[in-house]
Amino acid sequence: MPNYAECHRDLDSYISARVPVICMRTIEQQRALRLVRTAATHARRGNMPFWIYTRATGLRDLRTNAPLMDDRSLTGAMEYAAGQFTARPNATLVLVEPDDLDADTPLTRHIAELARLADTNMGSIILITDSPVWSGLQRLGMSLQLEPPDADEMYATLSAFLDDHRGHIPIAWGEQDIRRASEFLVGVTEGEAINLMATVAAKGSVDEGDVLVLAQSKDRIFNDLTGLQKVPLKAADYAVGGLSNLRDWLRRRGRLLQADLRATDLRPPRGVLLVGVPGCGKSLSAKAIAAQWQLPLYRLDMGSIHGKYLGESEGRFREALETADRVAPCVLWIDEIEKGLAGAGDGTGVPQRIIGQFLFWLQESQSRSFVVATANDVRSLPPELLRKGRFDELFFVDLPDAQDREEIIGIYYRRYLKADPDPEQLARLVDLSEGFAGSDIEAALHDVGAEVYLGGGTENLRPAFVLDTFANTVPLSRNNPEQIEEIRAWGRERAVPAGRFTATTAQGPAAPARRIVFLDD
Ligand SMILES: Nc1ncnc2c1ncn2[C@@H]1O[C@H](COP(=O)(O)OP(=O)(O)OP(=O)(O)O)[C@@H](O)[C@H]1O
Ligand SMILES: [Mg+2]
Repeated sequence: MPNYAECHRDLDSYISARVPVICMRTIEQQRALRLVRTAATHARRGNMPFWIYTRATGLRDLRTNAPLMDDRSLTGAMEYAAGQFTARPNATLVLVEPDDLDADTPLTRHIAELARLADTNMGSIILITDSPVWSGLQRLGMSLQLEPPDADEMYATLSAFLDDHRGHIPIAWGEQDIRRASEFLVGVTEGEAINLMATVAAKGSVDEGDVLVLAQSKDRIFNDLTGLQKVPLKAADYAVGGLSNLRDWLRRRGRLLQADLRATDLRPPRGVLLVGVPGCGKSLSAKAIAAQWQLPLYRLDMGSIHGKYLGESEGRFREALETADRVAPCVLWIDEIEKGLAGAGDGTGVPQRIIGQFLFWLQESQSRSFVVATANDVRSLPPELLRKGRFDELFFVDLPDAQDREEIIGIYYRRYLKADPDPEQLARLVDLSEGFAGSDIEAALHDVGAEVYLGGGTENLRPAFVLDTFANTVPLSRNNPEQIEEIRAWGRERAVPAGRFTATTAQGPAAPARRIVFLDD
């Protein structure tokens, strides 16, 4: 049952049961009030008084909206209610967002006292609030939580909005488009959804492409997010060379991420773990995926998760994941995941609990947040994370082979020198860059680009200068060959290559994707 219908049912029975305090936790005041109004206007409740107090409007009759007193203070309203509770049975006072409900204060004690008084004459107090309620008050009654709309409710809201505008503006959306838009909007409030939809419609039409526009503009309503950092994207900057296997996989999965899967038992893709040699395009791929799928990119900094106090790290991590659910659809980039999860045996139990939280979320979250986790030091990754069914795939990003280097050289030659390399020179650069990571190639061509700029343009560029720069570059892999070899040995054996399958892997019957198999699997 959708949460709204559930709240409706519960509120109705609490009102009928004359529960003295009903706490409604929600960030959507208007929606909560609609529920209360529906309950109050129920035919059988005609002779039950309902009053509502808000700071802006003072105390009013909930049904007629007629003011009941001139004094707009909360204390005044509570005094009025106290008099009425003793004089009339079955009265209900609705308090909207009273301040400081979460602690034992004179106000919360006053409300509790009023509730006890109401209880003697079948009276009741409904509290609508977005903050927790002091336990002393909560224990006098029942609580319910009104969540933002789910996809079905969102569908109803959007359909109603569009029906309202049909005939006034051209609307190209069919049922499927409304469905997709509703799924994208899960996590925002009803009011926010209407604002977003209205902004789209304000240009004078609702077009097919607006489904994606809506998904993208959704994240503009979230600022100051806990634990997540929004990464600005500039599509032109994320050309990735090589990694063709990963790119093919992503192309296919991208369609699944956008599809309406309700009629199937499939779930949207969860994410990939990219492990491998430094400087070969793991972080770049995270940005490229978000840019290609036109989804906002959020970075979860594992380093900033760790706090000094007991339980702090877990709390921050949970908040970050909840935020990711709210901003979805998005790409959630967890860079250097091993840094946050390493040290499982450190005695504090913190990494272990964080790993547990993360695995639970990976399995249970229904949101369309696609995780791109990257790691260098694979040996410190907890084995649970690598087990089948956690990430959709584990890719190994290796040093680029000759064909990949050719692509990467092409990308940066054009970017920094504004020209294509001639084929003969390209072939020599490919040879010279044997053992280079993508970042080495990028850095070398950046140096050349800077010299060209200082030297007055490409006309003055000697081809030998480019070759010399490459020849004089000491690639990262040569600085620390043992470490690189270890990473490569690990990845080749256990993960799916992100680059194209090499001759040996492509021969014979298609090899099943390689996965780690643990003894207890
Ligand atoms: N395959 C590639 N295609 C194009 N550019 C690349 C590629 N690999 C690396 N680069 C260039 O090198 C830079 C660094 O790459 P990136 O940050 O993605 O490496 P990484 O694999 O995340 O490394 P690390 O493990 O050190 O974090 C990129 O910003 C890009 O300029
Ligand atoms: Mg990186």
